[in-house]
Amino acid sequence: MKPVRKAVLPVAGFGTRVLPATKAIPKEMMPVFDRPAIQYVVDEALEAGIEHIVFVTGRNKGAIEDYFDHAYELETTLEAKKKTDILEETVATVLPAGAASFVRQQKPLGLGHAVLCARDVVGDEPFAVLLPDVLVSAKPSCLAQMVKAYNEVGGNLVAVDEVPAERVSSYGVIDPAEAGADDRLIRMKGMVEKPPVESAPSRLKITGRYILQPEVFALLENQTPGAGGEIQLTDSMERLMADQDFHAFKFEGQDYDCGDKLLYLEAFVAMALENPKLGSAARAKIEELLKKL
Ligand code: G1P
Repeated sequence: MKPVRKAVLPVAGFGTRVLPATKAIPKEMMPVFDRPAIQYVVDEALEAGIEHIVFVTGRNKGAIEDYFDHAYELETTLEAKKKTDILEETVATVLPAGAASFVRQQKPLGLGHAVLCARDVVGDEPFAVLLPDVLVSAKPSCLAQMVKAYNEVGGNLVAVDEVPAERVSSYGVIDPAEAGADDRLIRMKGMVEKPPVESAPSRLKITGRYILQPEVFALLENQTPGAGGEIQLTDSMERLMADQDFHAFKFEGQDYDCGDKLLYLEAFVAMALENPKLGSAARAKIEELLKKL
């Protein structure tokens, strides 16, 4: 069984649900407390042993490439001023040479199409997909848990989590068949993208973390548009289930969807409270503010 070495991060979206904040910066670069959202997702991937990250970008996303690269003027200035701690934190964001690729999704045709754009860089091996709208607080990281499970069962995995009924229609939802030997792994009968709540097969949403076999690319290539008129990854995964093993994986941890303004606020506060250095000071600040207002 080939190991999971590559991760695809689709970062081409416009961030319409958080406009105007995302008018001039990529939504993935919006800070979530002390670092851009994308940093949490890249750290999650690296913790899982990912060696190569494929960013699927679009127009106006140059800041993401710059962020993961050296910034010589900044580093030289920090060095001259002996601001060693900040310098170290700044340099730590640089990905190893050759460990990142950037491919363009030229038209916003959907998540499935974005993943298809990474096909040549991924090649013929299993790969992970991490949606940067979703931050997952977990130890070990959500993808690290998935890679461990993958090394035991192989095939394809999607992370799932319970979702309240009123939000079901915003997600991909799985149709569970039976729990596997390990009750975190669930066999599935199907999955459906953004179902109306009345016909949703369960309350288990697809969380935005996937381990997929490369055969999905051939299906994505001829995938007809689905929900929202977009080429949906869920639809091609559903077709792949006919030929390959597919498990839903209940990870241990908490996911935060930064997809709209209030969810973003929730993610921001959660990450502040969980911050190893500043968490307790952040809690005190929030409590102080709540008393004041
Ligand atoms: C995408 C996927 C969906 C998944 C969701 C997780 O939807 O298509 O299956 O449940 O991410 O956040 P989007 O949020 O891009 O509409």
